[in-house]
Amino acid sequence: MWRRGILRRSSAAREPGLRFRWASTACRAVVVPRFGGPEVLEVRGAVAVPDLKPREVLVRSRAVSINPLDLRMRSGYGRSIFEPLLPIILGRDVSGEVAAVGSSVSSLTVGQEVFGALHPTAVRGTYTDYAILSEDELTLKPPSLSHEEASAIPFAALTAWRALKSTARISQGQRLLVLGGGGAVGLAAIQLSVAAGCSVTTTCGSQSIERVLAVGAEKAIDYTTEDIESAIKGQFDAVLDTIGIPETERVGINLLRKGGHYMTLQGEAASIADRYGLTVGLPAATAILLKKQIQYRYSHGIEYWWTYMRADPEGLDEIRRLSGAGKLQIPVDKTFPITEVREAHRVKEKRLIPGKVVLEVD
Ligand SMILES: NC(=O)c1ccc[n+]([C@@H]2O[C@H](COP(=O)([O-])OP(=O)(O)OC[C@H]3O[C@@H](n4cnc5c(N)ncnc54)[C@H](OP(=O)(O)O)[C@@H]3O)[C@@H](O)[C@H]2O)c1
Repeated sequence: MWRRGILRRSSAAREPGLRFRWASTACRAVVVPRFGGPEVLEVRGAVAVPDLKPREVLVRSRAVSINPLDLRMRSGYGRSIFEPLLPIILGRDVSGEVAAVGSSVSSLTVGQEVFGALHPTAVRGTYTDYAILSEDELTLKPPSLSHEEASAIPFAALTAWRALKSTARISQGQRLLVLGGGGAVGLAAIQLSVAAGCSVTTTCGSQSIERVLAVGAEKAIDYTTEDIESAIKGQFDAVLDTIGIPETERVGINLLRKGGHYMTLQGEAASIADRYGLTVGLPAATAILLKKQIQYRYSHGIEYWWTYMRADPEGLDEIRRLSGAGKLQIPVDKTFPITEVREAHRVKEKRLIPGKVVLEVD
């Protein structure tokens, strides 16, 4: 049986400047004590809850969605950063209620329903009764969405937002190609592009065709039955490649107009740092990226990017607006109680469930 930790308002709550500080101290969380398969995941009953920094918010989690990054971190991806910090708490996305706020938080108050996502290198994740995010990483949850639905959105949508809006700076009337439109980031990218007035072609598996067309893709190509290179016509202003294998990179780059942006989600910075250590790996990764950028600018006249999720208050606000209006949805295909996190990771890893899997935090 898992013990639930208890949070109490501290006596410090009455001190000026520390109005919203919470003193204690422990709660339930899913931790990774060592890297490995789903069996390494442990639900622990008394994991420390640090004091809030001035801009931080304590969120009573109600639902957390599983991202591919969670599976990869559990298996050792990012070990150059995370290994010295084990045990770590997994999880990026969360939807829940504000339980406490740091002394400088001005946009949120205790009791409000919120959703948001941590950045990829955050060490204390969201698979816990009480998650800590900065004010900038949270926004109000639209009342029309359940916590489960809301938790599926922010990490994927902010990843798509960063690529499309911050990197490619897409604008009305442009043509976009999303390679891998059937996943969470792909679906978010289609919907954000459509909301920006762009037309979208995408590749996906047979079971995702209806889904991508329903959210606004103009054309969907089934990568399992069609040769995507000959099926895709014309040139594009931007390509978001969620798959990032050599074949999708080659096809994506060849389909760009001059000056267009190719953006892959499979940047190599973390894997190179894992192999060679942070000190050697990060500069090496930067050099590899720079070389590719110069090479593609010279050979194809295009801009080449590795793009990563990043917190973006403006993006999160737009994501809240669109999801509240029903214009940005990421369907939840299966939910599990958080105590069944090992099984949830197992089905996601074996791709037994194609779409989003969410953990319910009671
Ligand atoms: N760089 C970053 O900061 C960042 C952030 C978020 C995610 N990511 C990465 O981006 C990828 C997608 O993330 P996600 O959250 O969208 O994952 P997801 O929801 O699990 O979706 C993955 C989808 O990829 C599709 N797929 C697999 N092989 C394909 C191929 N050859 N062609 C077209 N589609 C293919 C599958 O779609 P079908 O079901 O249609 O076959 C699958 O549903 C993951 O590798 C993740 O690690 C990176």
